[in-house]
Formats: sequence, C-alpha cells, structure tokens
Amino acid sequence: MQRNILIIFNLLLFTGVAWNGPQTPIIAQESEAQEGRDLLLNYAFLPRDFHQSTFDQLWKDWPEPLKSQAEQATPAERRQMAYDRFGLSSRQDAPEKPLQYVVDNEGWWSMNCFACHGGKAAGVSYEGLPNAQLALETLYADLRRTKKRLDLPLGPMERGSMVVPMGSTVGTSNAVIFGIALMSYRDKDLNLRPFRFPPVLIHHDMDAPPWWNVKKRERLYIDGFVEKSHRALIPFVMDQRNSGEKMIGWEDEFKKVFAYIESLPAPQYPFDIDQQLAQKGRQVFQNNCAECHGSYGADMDYPSRIIPLDEIGTDPIRLKALSVKHRQGYHESWYANYGKDDIVHEPQGYQAPPLDGVWASAPYLHNGSVPTLWHLLHPEQRPAIWRRPNNDGYDQEKVGLAVETIASLPADLRGDIRREYFDTSVRGKSATGHDYPNRLDEAEKRSLLEYLKTL
Ligand code: HEC
Ligand code: HEC
Repeated sequence: MQRNILIIFNLLLFTGVAWNGPQTPIIAQESEAQEGRDLLLNYAFLPRDFHQSTFDQLWKDWPEPLKSQAEQATPAERRQMAYDRFGLSSRQDAPEKPLQYVVDNEGWWSMNCFACHGGKAAGVSYEGLPNAQLALETLYADLRRTKKRLDLPLGPMERGSMVVPMGSTVGTSNAVIFGIALMSYRDKDLNLRPFRFPPVLIHHDMDAPPWWNVKKRERLYIDGFVEKSHRALIPFVMDQRNSGEKMIGWEDEFKKVFAYIESLPAPQYPFDIDQQLAQKGRQVFQNNCAECHGSYGADMDYPSRIIPLDEIGTDPIRLKALSVKHRQGYHESWYANYGKDDIVHEPQGYQAPPLDGVWASAPYLHNGSVPTLWHLLHPEQRPAIWRRPNNDGYDQEKVGLAVETIASLPADLRGDIRREYFDTSVRGKSATGHDYPNRLDEAEKRSLLEYLKTL
C-alpha cells in the first residue's frame, strides 16, 4: 500500500514537462548579500507554478460567503482577500507583487523561499520572518479547483499535494517531508533516479525558524543535524524539474543567498517596553535561561546546546521522522560535500535556538504549537485548540499572536476552515514540554516576559 502510494507520487511528479527556466541572471555589481536578496526576489529557482490570470480567478470558486464578498469587491480588495486567504504579503519595493512568489514579466508565478521565510508580525512584513499565515494547502486546493474549471493542466504542486500533504495547519508546513520525498529520487550527485524504492514518510508540520538567527548558529535545523553551509540551502529548490546539474550550477548564487541570510537583522519590538521591569527580567533570564539560549547585549554569547528529547519533552515526531537512513543519504551527497561535512546521524534532541527578535516569530516551539510567549512561560495554561481570528492581530499583553480558543473541533469543518485551527491533540502538534518556567513565580515571569521583548 505504502509502496503503491509512492509510485503514484512518483508518477505525479514526473509527468511535468522539462523546464528550461530563466538563464543565469545578470546582476549589477552590488554587495553579495544584496545580490542574494535580489536573486530571491526576482530569480525563479523553482519552475513556473501558475499564471497571474489563474490566480486572479480563484475567488470564482471560493465557498460562500467569500465568493459573494469577492464579487462585490474592487480588484484591489479582491487581491487583498486572496493574499489574506493564502498568507501572502506585498513586497515593500514593488507593492503590486507578492513577497512569497517571483512573478516574471509574462505573469508566471514561481514559489520562492519567502513563502515560508517571509511574513507579517503585528501587521508589518519582514524578510526572514517565519510566515505564520502561510496556507499552502488551501492555495493549491483552490488552484486545483479553478484549473479544472478552466480546463488547464494541473502542475506538479497541485498533483503532488494530493499525495504528500503540504501542511495541515495555517502557518506551518510539511517541508521536512517534501525534502525527504524529493531526495529519495536523487543519487548522490543529485541526478534524478525515478524508480528508487520509496521511503517511509512520517508527515508532520514544522514552523520555519527565523533567518536572522542563522548567523549565530553553527549547525542548521531544530536538531542541528547539518553543518551550516550554502549548499545546505539548495535542497529547498529540489523540484523534479530542476536537474542535478542545474542545481549544482547554482552554487555561486546560493553563496550570495547565504550571505544575505547571514546579514539579516532581528526586528525591533514596535511597541512600548517597561525598561525597568525588563532590567529585572534580564536577571531572571541570566539565572534560568541563558545556560541554553545564551546571553544578549554587551556580553553576547550563544552556546549551541542540544537538549535530549526526554529532558526537553517537546513534540518528538520531528526527530523520529528524519531517520538515520535519510540523514546518511544526505551526508553522502553533494549537499554535504560527499561526506566531508559534519552531519549528525543520530541526534538525540533539539537545539535551544537563539532568541533574538523572538517577539516577532510567534508561534513558538519547532512545531508552532504555542501562540504567545506568555503561554510558553505558563506550560499548564497553553491552549489545546487555538485560531487567529485576524491575520494581523498581535497580543501585546501576552506577546505573540492574538488568538481565540475553543474546547473541541466540530467534526464536519470544511478543509480550509479546519486548517485555521491549531489542534494540539493531533500527532506531531503537541504543545508539551519545555517546563523550565515552572520554577519561576508570577512576578519573575512578568519581568521575564518584558525582557524577552528587548531581544
Ligand atoms: C515550504 C516551506 C519552506 C520553504 C519554501 C523554504 N523553507 Fe527553509 N525551512 C522551512 C522549515 C520548516 C525549516 C525548519 C526545518 C527543521 O528545523 O527541521 C526551514 C529551515 C531553514 C533553514 C535553517 C535555519 C535554522 O536556523 O536552522 C535555512 C537556512 C533555510 N530554511 C533556508 C531556506 C532557503 C534558502 C529557502 C529557499 C531556497 C527555503 N528555506 C525555503 C521551510 C521552508
Ligand atoms: C535546558 C535548556 C533550556 C533552558 C534552561 C531553557 N530553554 Fe528555552 N528552549 C530550549 C530548547 C531545546 C528549545 C527548542 C524546543 C523545541 O522547539 O521543541 C527551546 C525553545 C524556547 C523558545 C521557543 C523559541 C522559538 O522560536 O520557537 C523560547 C521562547 C524559549 N525557549 C525561552 C526560554 C526561556 C524564557 C527560558 C528560561 C525560563 C528557557 N527557554 C529555558 C532549551 C532550554
């Protein structure tokens, strides 16, 4: 059964037409980081996905009352409705374009890294911020419906997402499993090998980490299994229509993308901070948190500590989903310099991340299960099921996403609405663990929360 499903997955991905794509881009002499940013915004590393004219018609297949609302709206309002539905935001330098897709001169959309690594906090768009509004599954389900109505061929994303889910909750994605699935059809030189025995896929959703913290890290990902390098970024463009030769040929481009990621600053908290209280909180942090998360300000340091799973106690699925075999396959490949890079085959737990700009990167924990820092500091009071009633809502008191909670989910919710709810009883989505704040009293937690705003 597992095997049959994966053969179907294979066929779905392989029936795409070979993609020639744009040629290596011509860029003016700028700093490496600036060039990397330009590449991400303007160069389509991933093949064309859908056309502007299709995107502009998606609303015609929306459920009511959305469809009627869209019908009565102006084109600009309608576009905003679509952006809100799918978690897209406008580019600051070119407001008519989305940050999360490259749109070429002919109107073709190709996904870029900002789909997951660019989004809004308190209504303001930041590059490198995990996209807490992303609704990939809803976007590609809508595209499937509209393309069928228009008699247009389905693309690999619309076909692939019928077999490998893209993400079951808004703001998180099954990105690690896309990587495993796509890698299992490549040899160590990244050449496509269509008929390799399919892997076991343990679907689970992850909240992307903020890019501005990459500069502090020596190893990447929540389990720190990969040594940091520009090559480690290239798996994210491993579409079946990109040949191995083409991806390896992008090495210089990805050095620039890497320089850009390392250059990003953490955003500053945009509201008032009680500095006196924060100063008290700093002491609480130094005594209770710094051993794992490091120190900030003048005496900055970051210890890169991995905490064993049975001690940290957060959701275990991510660690299990990436098996020793998957990690070995990665290690032997070009991505890890044919075994020369240092890869951990059996990580024991999760790495305590740097907390710069942590006010902005809600929800918290690697699976995005905790909506605010207050909830992170009150483990017993984390909500079982929560949802954001408004994409731009920010809770200044609890510091994080403004959410509403419900006791149980109705069974017959429509898919797009169900995905708005984060249900911590689902496998891979638990909000347990990280109980360290339990040793603090309420006054200490209050000052600590204020201090966390300053990072
Ligand atoms: C579909 C969503 C998605 C897209 C698109 C995506 N990423 Fe990510 N990215 C993730 C997730 C989820 C993680 C966390 C994975 C983990 O820790 O296991 C991640 C992790 C990373 C990390 C490691 C950061 C750290 O602190 O450990 C880097 C660097 C990164 N991505 C770069 C990129 C680049 C460059 C691109 C585009 C070429 C890209 N990503 C596209 C979802 C995505
Ligand atoms: C023993 C090590 C350790 C201590 C002590 C510790 N943490 Fe953590 N912390 C971690 C690890 C590991 C994670 C990642 C867990 C995960 O995502 O599953 C984490 C995650 C977090 C996150 C979520 C970050 C994000 O972007 O999702 C925050 C916020 C945080 N810790 C704050 C604190 C505070 C505040 C304290 C002090 C009361 C503290 N931690 C104490 C190890 C620690």
